Amino acid sequence: MGRAADLKFGAPAADILSMFEWKQEYAVNIGSIDTQHQKLFALGRELYTAMSAGQGKSVLGRILDRLVAYTAVHFAYEEGLMKLHQYPDFVKHKAEHDALVKQVVAFQTDFNSGRATMAVQVLQFIKGWLEKHIMNSDFAYIPCLKAQKVA
Ligand SMILES: [Fe+2]
Ligand SMILES: [Fe+2]
Repeated sequence: MGRAADLKFGAPAADILSMFEWKQEYAVNIGSIDTQHQKLFALGRELYTAMSAGQGKSVLGRILDRLVAYTAVHFAYEEGLMKLHQYPDFVKHKAEHDALVKQVVAFQTDFNSGRATMAVQVLQFIKGWLEKHIMNSDFAYIPCLKAQKVA
């Protein structure tokens, strides 16, 4: 599917078209967490679609608010599990969550105050952190949580 899209649209267009598409390669195979990650991607997609459709600032701002709020919900859920099961890299993982929240809240503040606009680059940044954080840091807790039968 990815291949056909590449051939048809060329690399940059295909990249935009697959923006915030959840892929099997992101799966941590812990159902509750994969569902939450999918929801984060869906919110990113919603933001991207609204932006592409030329929706106004208030619509974009409300979706961004939901993305920020759900990110907090998801991070708190993961942190709860890691703590409960004494994940050895908890502190490092939480610090990464905190840094991501700080970055996205800073953007939200700038957007709400009119200092920043919603641009593809911002969405690409959000997509990039979701992707990198899941595939580097979230993947690292899989053996620990799986061993505790977290589902
Ligand atoms: Fe996560
Ligand atoms: Fe995480």
